[in-house]
Amino acid sequence: SAHQWQAPLPTDSRGPCPGLNTLANHGFLPRNGSNITIPVVLNAIKDGFNFYPTNLLRTAAKIGLLATENADNFSLEELALHGTLEHDVSLSRSDLSCGDHIHFNATVFATLKNSNPGVDYYNATSAGQVLVQRLAEETILSPNLTNTVKELTVRIVESGFYLSVMGNVTTGAAPKKFVQILFEQERLPIEEGWHRSEVPIMDDNFGTLIMAIGKATTWAPSGNIVCPWIRLQ
Ligand code: HEM
Ligand code: MG
Repeated sequence: SAHQWQAPLPTDSRGPCPGLNTLANHGFLPRNGSNITIPVVLNAIKDGFNFYPTNLLRTAAKIGLLATENADNFSLEELALHGTLEHDVSLSRSDLSCGDHIHFNATVFATLKNSNPGVDYYNATSAGQVLVQRLAEETILSPNLTNTVKELTVRIVESGFYLSVMGNVTTGAAPKKFVQILFEQERLPIEEGWHRSEVPIMDDNFGTLIMAIGKATTWAPSGNIVCPWIRLQ
């Protein structure tokens, strides 16, 4: 069918976002990962995830456009421009200063994967703890990493993405198996029983979820002392 999972071709553009890579692997976004406009990305997220084009998503898409010199479209790989949306201390990619900040890295992902032991779901509390743990680990590898309130905010939102899209935006719980398939295979775990959220994901329910993640996160700025900023292509 039109939305069957297909592995990307070597010539297809993929980038640091597991969510958008997955939508491209299922044909919700162009499978070649290129020429993505704001309406195209917002519609793909709505169709694939029942996540409405909220203020938050519109803002993310607009910032994404700053990573390219194109007037109105980007490729998934262009989103990797460090300092626009791409940041240090990711959940599944290493820092740019340590190597590959674009492709999935199982060693980095192990922290999230092994979190919330004893139960089969991740939630806002475990997600908040993972953010703290990742920062501690990455600080050992690269003491000069960038960790301002901008990076913290983006990281909290991204944790909200995997919990709400793979799980339940209201309870904040997401089956571990689904989250792992999203990150590790960039595939929608439909065969495993996932279906897109029945409840539309919007600014209000998503906002409540990310507040809960933020509450479970202790944080202070560290590393390279800079003011929050956005890099332009
Ligand atoms: C990370 C772009 C929507 C899930 C990222 C990153 C970029 C990005 C550039 C890399 C940040 C980094 O880790 O350094 C975008 C744009 C979006 C969008 C422009 C919409 C306009 C989504 C959606 C999901 C998602 C709908 C739903 C699953 C994630 C996750 C991460 C991430 C879980 C964290 C990856 C990690 O820390 O390793 N996104 N994204 N994103 N995105 Fe997206
Ligand atoms: Mg990163």
